[in-house]
Amino acid sequence: MAKITLNGQTFESGSDPRKPFLEVLREEFGLRGTKYGCGEGECGACTVVVDGETVCACLTLTGSLAGKEVTTVEGLANDPVGVALFNSFARHGAVQCGFCTPGFVMSAWQLLAKQENPDTDAIRDAVGGNLCRCTGYVRIVDAIRECGLGAANSPVVARIGEGGASDYVAQAYWRPASLEELFHDLGSFSDNSRMIAGGTDLMVQNEHRLNELELIDISGLSELRGISQSDGSITIGALTSWAEIGRSKLIERWAPLLGLASHEVGGIQIQNRGTIGGNIANASPAADGLPGLYVYDAMVELASSSGQRSLPIADFMVGPGRTSLAAGEVITAVRIPKVEMPGTPLVFFEKVGPRKAQTITKASLAFHGWMEEGRIVAPRIALGAVAPTVLRAREAERMLAKDITVAGVAMAAAQLSGIISPIDDIRSTAEYRSKLITGLLRRGFASHAGIH
Ligand SMILES: Cc1cc2nc3c(=O)[nH]c(=O)nc-3n(C[C@H](O)[C@H](O)[C@H](O)COP(=O)(O)OP(=O)(O)OC[C@H]3O[C@@H](n4cnc5c(N)ncnc54)[C@H](O)[C@@H]3O)c2cc1C
Ligand code: FES
Ligand code: FES
Repeated sequence: MAKITLNGQTFESGSDPRKPFLEVLREEFGLRGTKYGCGEGECGACTVVVDGETVCACLTLTGSLAGKEVTTVEGLANDPVGVALFNSFARHGAVQCGFCTPGFVMSAWQLLAKQENPDTDAIRDAVGGNLCRCTGYVRIVDAIRECGLGAANSPVVARIGEGGASDYVAQAYWRPASLEELFHDLGSFSDNSRMIAGGTDLMVQNEHRLNELELIDISGLSELRGISQSDGSITIGALTSWAEIGRSKLIERWAPLLGLASHEVGGIQIQNRGTIGGNIANASPAADGLPGLYVYDAMVELASSSGQRSLPIADFMVGPGRTSLAAGEVITAVRIPKVEMPGTPLVFFEKVGPRKAQTITKASLAFHGWMEEGRIVAPRIALGAVAPTVLRAREAERMLAKDITVAGVAMAAAQLSGIISPIDDIRSTAEYRSKLITGLLRRGFASHAGIH
């Protein structure tokens, strides 16, 4: 039974811990201000705040909230910043049907908790994971910018829970508190059990049959979270969220492609919840985290009750949705060697999708090298969504190391179409992907190095 603090009061939820929290909020607690829009993390109508971060309640497992502080739109009724936002939305005509409004207010409330007087760009970023189908965004952004109150006025903004105890419900759901506990009892679960971290892939893939799964919720394993460095490498815990990666100075210094990718993974609510370990284990060739990891020759760190091993990312990936993860094994971290070359870093992550925000990749290209005296040192390129796994483009790397004139870049770009094996699917055609990938390299050099 999950003990959850909801709008300041602690409750024991009697619901199945595998239920999405949105259902529990609306059915068990009768809090219907949080809306069900898409059920897939796309619309933000279900946005709530958990331990100071916005998440989609439709993709948040109830059991994972044990020991956490949850604030819903009802919890803002007596909060001065919440009330200022409600009034400002009304004053600016930023509400028509009102279905999306609770989600927008929650995202705005969290932004104001972290930033005094945010500008229009910051507001647009903060509500990038919220959709409105009738009002239009200009009025909503104006309402947030001109609400007139900031975090200092809110007494409830910094609510953080005490942390989750380990939770166990028969063979249906288990939330171990440490790796030691995980490995001790893992054997008692069947081969059909599934691990779940942030749940942003798994819950979408199993939307209608979560209650048929045996879930091992690893989100409470705090030893798998965080970013650290040693002399030769940086280590990113598997449970580190995309939002944490996006804020990290170590990532910015040593693995900036992951920082760029972090802002591409869904909206803020998804970035707060989705983890790098989940992105790797899900093994989608379109995953935004993977091209950067290929460029950096990352090592995937694995552990099981019988020991530890590490594999280069390219060996870990087997095919779409398939990895070398063995039964009973968990990804604990990724390790990235620190590489530094003479010159100025040239780094870009070019991605094309059906729309600008919240979009799954049609094709992507990650590049990291160093510009020095008119040449490029140690160029490294990885390509996403154009083959069964992400690819390193080693021949194109060699070509660029010799020649980064306009003609040289064009030749390296043309070479890319010879190594890919794109497919037709619902997101794009093989032919279009092939054209895209050559354009992405040229576009990267044009916009980031002025070579065009
Ligand atoms: C609206 C929306 C938009 C999205 N947009 C993007 C996008 O633009 N780009 C992108 O790359 N992704 C996107 N995603 C996918 C997803 O958010 C990411 O792949 C995320 O990193 C998954 O992490 P998670 O912790 O939520 O994974 P989960 O869903 O918890 O797990 C995914 C898989 O990995 C396994 N797993 C998780 N952690 C471990 C571990 N430590 N060891 C072993 N196995 C593990 C699980 O068993 C499961 O099979 C989007 C998702 C949604 C819902
Ligand atoms: S209901 Fe649309 S994001 Fe949750
Ligand atoms: S006001 Fe109707 S969806 Fe936004």
